[in-house]
Amino acid sequence: MTETATLDVEASEPSELGYRSFRLGEFAFSRDEYFVSLTWPTGRHVMSADAFLRALQRDVAWDFFYGIINFDGVLGTVNHYGTVDMFAGRYNDAYRKAELDHVETFETPLIRETFKAMLADWTNEGFDPFASPEETGSAFGPKHGDNIDAITRRRVTAQRMVAVAGDEGLRTDDNGHPVNRQFADVPQDEPEIHAEEGFEDALASFNLFAYLSRSSVTWNPSVVSVCKDSLYCPTTEEYILPVIHGNDRVEWFVQLSDEIYWDVEDRDSGAKRAKVIMKAGDVASMPADIRHQGYAPKRSMLLVWENGSGKIPELISSGKLPSTAVQF
Ligand code: PHB
Ligand code: FE
Repeated sequence: MTETATLDVEASEPSELGYRSFRLGEFAFSRDEYFVSLTWPTGRHVMSADAFLRALQRDVAWDFFYGIINFDGVLGTVNHYGTVDMFAGRYNDAYRKAELDHVETFETPLIRETFKAMLADWTNEGFDPFASPEETGSAFGPKHGDNIDAITRRRVTAQRMVAVAGDEGLRTDDNGHPVNRQFADVPQDEPEIHAEEGFEDALASFNLFAYLSRSSVTWNPSVVSVCKDSLYCPTTEEYILPVIHGNDRVEWFVQLSDEIYWDVEDRDSGAKRAKVIMKAGDVASMPADIRHQGYAPKRSMLLVWENGSGKIPELISSGKLPSTAVQF
C-alpha cells in the first residue's frame, strides 16, 4: 500500500475487540467477534465475518472482476473499469420496491485501498479466506494477529501459457505446491515434446490436471493461457463460491472433474432462474443477464473460459450483442 493511498482510507482506532471500523462514502463498516455490520443512509445489514471476508478477498484479488460481485443478496460492487459502484439492495427486488437501496460510485483506487485495509485488519491469524473450510482455521473471535501472506498471494496470470519459457512456471513440491489431499489420485506426469529440429523453442506443454491438483486455494480462477481475448481461467472448487457473480458478458464453464451445482438467478432482481448440475465433462454457457453461485461438495476442477475484451459490456448493454451465446 502506498503512503498516499493509506491516507485516503477512512479508518477508526481499534475497538475494544481490536478491530478498526471503516467508512467509504456514506457506507460504514465494522466487525465484532462473529459479524460484519454495515450501515448506509437508508438501511443496515449484517453478514457472518467468515462469509464477508471470503467475498472481500475475491473482490480485492480480482480487482472487482467482470461486472457485479454480490457478497450476498444485498451487498456488492459493480466494476466500471476505472470506477466501482458499491451498492446495498440495488439488485434486490424487495429493497428496490421499498426504496431502501443505495449506490455510490468510487474511483477504483479509493475502494481498492479501503477494501485491502479492511481485509488486512479483519483477517485473523490462522484464517485463510481462499482456503476451503476444512483447510483453514476460524475467522471468529477478538482480533488476534493477521494473515498477510495468505491475503496478498500473487495471482497467476500467464502472458501466453503456463510452462512457456519466461512465463508462469509449473507447480512442484519444491516450490511450495504439494498435491491437495483430494487430488492424490491425479497423475503427475508431464507431456513429452518431440519437436522438429529448429522448432524446439516454439513448443510448450503442461499437464493441466497436475497443475490444478497442486492449487492451495479454492474459487480463484487464474489465467493459464491467453489467445488474444480468449482467457482460460481454471480453478479448483470446494464448498461454496463466496460471491454471487453477476456477469457483464457470457462466460463458459467446462467441468473438468467431479461435480458443481449452480444456482442461477436473474442478475437484476435475484429471481430464481435455474439450477444447473454439472458433472465431469459437462459444458455450460452462462448468459450475460444472470448471476450465479456454485456449490462443490468435493474438491473439483472447473475451467472458466472468459472473453476479456473491453468492448463486450457496452455491446451487450446497448443491445448490439445478445446476452446468450446460442439462441435456440
Ligand atoms: C464465476 O463467477 O463465474 C466464477 C468465479 C470463481 C470461480 C468459478 C466461477 O472459482
Ligand atoms: Fe461468473
